[in-house]
Amino acid sequence: MHDHLDTVLFDEPQILARLDAIAERITDDYRGKNLTVVAILHGGLIMMADLLRRIRLPLKMECISVESYHGGTESSGEVKFNVGRMPDFSGEHVLVIDDILDSGRTLDAIARKVRAECNPESLRLGVLLDKRTPRAVEVAVDYVGFEIDDLFVVGYGLDYQGRYRNLPLIGTLKTEHILPEHR
Ligand code: IMP
Ligand code: MG
Repeated sequence: MHDHLDTVLFDEPQILARLDAIAERITDDYRGKNLTVVAILHGGLIMMADLLRRIRLPLKMECISVESYHGGTESSGEVKFNVGRMPDFSGEHVLVIDDILDSGRTLDAIARKVRAECNPESLRLGVLLDKRTPRAVEVAVDYVGFEIDDLFVVGYGLDYQGRYRNLPLIGTLKTEHILPEHR
């Protein structure tokens, strides 16, 4: 699978070292508070698992499933929630974790819905990657792993056509592994 990669942006030790630092900040920021961390599925799942085990607080975890991409390498602009009923976060300080901030539409839609329907005590956002690209929607993110150029990346939760989420590093795909219509 690694041979499908063109370039590696961040390897596993780099990612985990960054998560150590972020978890340290989260532990300090939420000490003495009721914290619920919410993974956005599927992309936020891998980061979530490694991040949560580094936070030294008795937190709760929750997952929200959304679809914002439809198989290509460009954001579709539409965010679909795959949930019947949103969770109740009364009394909880909520931290939402996603893989990447690109156009901003996904996190903006999630933040709006959580504020409107879940009654959180507070809401913060964290992403592994922040893409330097013109945003369709401005979103204030509180915890960022790394900033990257406007590239399509896979690994560590990020997929192309549903694959490569399990790569333990982040990189770009060789052109031959991208469908002609997405190049
Ligand atoms: P946004 O709504 O444009 O900010 O897009 C965020 C979502 O698009 C993320 O949750 C990812 O699922 C997906 N996405 C954006 N950029 C990439 C990428 O480079 N690789 C894989 N998925 C991406
Ligand atoms: Mg995603």
